[in-house]
Amino acid sequence: MIETTVNKQYNGLASVYDRRWKKYISHTLSFLKNWAEISPLDTVLDVACGTGEFEKLLLTENSTLKIVGVDISEKMLAIAQEKCKIYPQVSFHTASASALPFADNSFDVIVSASSFHYFNDPLAALIEMKRVLKPNGKVVILDWCKDYLFCQILDIILKIFDPAHQQCYTQEEFHSFLTCANFVISRATKVRFGLFWGLMVATAQVGGQDPLPPCL
Ligand SMILES: C[S@@+](CC[C@H](N)C(=O)[O-])C[C@H]1O[C@@H](n2cnc3c(N)ncnc32)[C@H](O)[C@@H]1O
Repeated sequence: MIETTVNKQYNGLASVYDRRWKKYISHTLSFLKNWAEISPLDTVLDVACGTGEFEKLLLTENSTLKIVGVDISEKMLAIAQEKCKIYPQVSFHTASASALPFADNSFDVIVSASSFHYFNDPLAALIEMKRVLKPNGKVVILDWCKDYLFCQILDIILKIFDPAHQQCYTQEEFHSFLTCANFVISRATKVRFGLFWGLMVATAQVGGQDPLPPCL
């Protein structure tokens, strides 16, 4: 149900998304690119890739990088596809973060930007990411952080007025999800963005524990 609502919302927003959020997208994705330290030979999956701005950014530095983007909104993906059409090794697929249409152990790096708070089942999404990640791969997730007052207020407002909004998380809650999905966090931080806004980012690798540890 929530995924249908998100799909409708982003299909409606797709044509204005890049323009409306230009500054936010440019700041967050430049930060993510520097943080993620993606190597030229990595095969990258971008979960909830939106209009392909992160792909565009990565490809300006390395035009042969293999990247796959998935998103639940086909209209956002159509824009991503158009931006990256000259790169044959880049592809986009309509899919939910909780059901990735890829074989086990497919990717070296999985990134996801500004989307975790939309996932109706974040743990299922992380378990899917873990499944398609190669054993020595890493996930790098950036999202809004509810430790910042503005995000707390926005979370309350969006829960009332935006049916597509799911839930913002504190850094502690975010890390608990990663741990519950059997990831080991190797690097994490919170970053203030502008005067009020705050983000969190974490890099994590697949841990050794199986079955899953006790969860949230
Ligand atoms: C704020 S946009 C971020 C797009 C892009 N990552 C960026 O940073 O510009 C959120 C995106 O998440 C996608 N999305 C939300 N829930 C999703 C889900 N469960 N599975 C796949 N994509 C999802 C939306 O369609 C939308 O394109």
